[in-house]
Amino acid sequence: MANASGFFTPSVPRLRTKIQPLTGISRSGFCFSRRVVCSSSIEGAEKHVSPSESRMPKLVSKGCKLVGCGSAVPSLSVSNDDLSKIVDTSDEWISVRTGIRSRRVISGKESLKNLAVEAARKALEMADFDPNDLDLILMCTSTPEDIFGAAPQIQRELGCKNSPLAYDITAACSGFVLGLVSAACHIRGGGFRNVLVIGADGISRFVDWTDRGTCILFGDAAGAVLVQACDAEDDGLLSFDLHSDGEGARHLGAPMSDDKPEELLGSNGSVLDFPPKRSSYSCIQMNGKEVFRFAVRSVPQSIESALEKAGLVSSSVDWLLLHQANQRIIDAVATRLEFPQEKVISNLANYGNTSAASIPLALDEAVRSGKVKPGHTIATAGFGAGLTWGSAIIRWG
Ligand code: ACO
Repeated sequence: MANASGFFTPSVPRLRTKIQPLTGISRSGFCFSRRVVCSSSIEGAEKHVSPSESRMPKLVSKGCKLVGCGSAVPSLSVSNDDLSKIVDTSDEWISVRTGIRSRRVISGKESLKNLAVEAARKALEMADFDPNDLDLILMCTSTPEDIFGAAPQIQRELGCKNSPLAYDITAACSGFVLGLVSAACHIRGGGFRNVLVIGADGISRFVDWTDRGTCILFGDAAGAVLVQACDAEDDGLLSFDLHSDGEGARHLGAPMSDDKPEELLGSNGSVLDFPPKRSSYSCIQMNGKEVFRFAVRSVPQSIESALEKAGLVSSSVDWLLLHQANQRIIDAVATRLEFPQEKVISNLANYGNTSAASIPLALDEAVRSGKVKPGHTIATAGFGAGLTWGSAIIRWG
């Protein structure tokens, strides 16, 4: 429908919601309710879901557990020596300052979507889980191949027949931790039972490959975890702690830039600023020192806070798994929290900083290699652009 100004106005589907509000979730992630029944549907969408398949109404679960993981990386490996051929750097400088030795970069016909789908399939396979039983897909990414979101396309590729909700979460390197906590909230408060959380980023597409200060750090990858409703005693998200500080955005970003605005103005001056400017995103701009300081200050505080909420101390946690940004950041946080090196998971040397993918990628490798076993507890934390940071104490399996 067009309105008087000539702009298209879509007819808005009416949301019918009925909630018996007997529940609540505290910021630390503990459910303090008994039970809740909720129902929600959109007129016009009923045809996709048969009554027997509808996920509402449903009892809300009190716990959620991580039951499967998977990951995928591009085939092209770029070593530090390769980079030293295009920018003034060296393998020694990069490995000493960051711990990174090589990274994977999307090339040829590869796509972020396909990496995400591959990681998701492996996670579902590990859990022996049918994609048709998924209720929700959360795609944590800051680099979707469609600005309107990547998650629904992943849902289609996975062949989910029941139209499960699928949407993106944009929070750079904190994305996966936010996705995990969001999954728990959907399960504990929303009646969802099976949530696929994907962390995937193609940061190489937003890197200035002539800037040695940033291009040495990043790589591309995808990782996924299946989170399932369970009883309170089997709960796998013991606590969490999440923060943002927009004040720090100036230290790390890839902001939108406008192209040639003047040429687009109306020639008679009657319609200023229309048509709108055409925009694109700039490459990653970063003040490395400030981001480093922020990480080593904020991450230990956040993990300490999550440990306290879970009633744990670091010595009783099996693993420390941080966003893989820089080995010096990982080491500094581990030292501050008194985690010995043998309890620290790191695969940064092989992949660099893969943003939202780094935690599920490292988790998947650690699970498949037998390092992380069912019942193990993990202190995990993401941090990065926004600035946003957060941690979660999780139990695997
Ligand atoms: N090779 C060789 N020399 C270099 C390189 C390079 N790749 N990069 C910088 N240098 C030079 C600098 O020009 C400088 O030279 P100068 O002393 O002659 O001026 C010198 O090395 C030191 O540079 P610094 O920037 O001070 O180096 P620093 O020790 O701070 O390390 C780094 C830089 C690795 C980027 C570090 O600051 C860091 O890792 N910061 C955290 C970044 C991060 O984690 N970002 C991702 C966050 S996650 C997200 O949301 C996307």
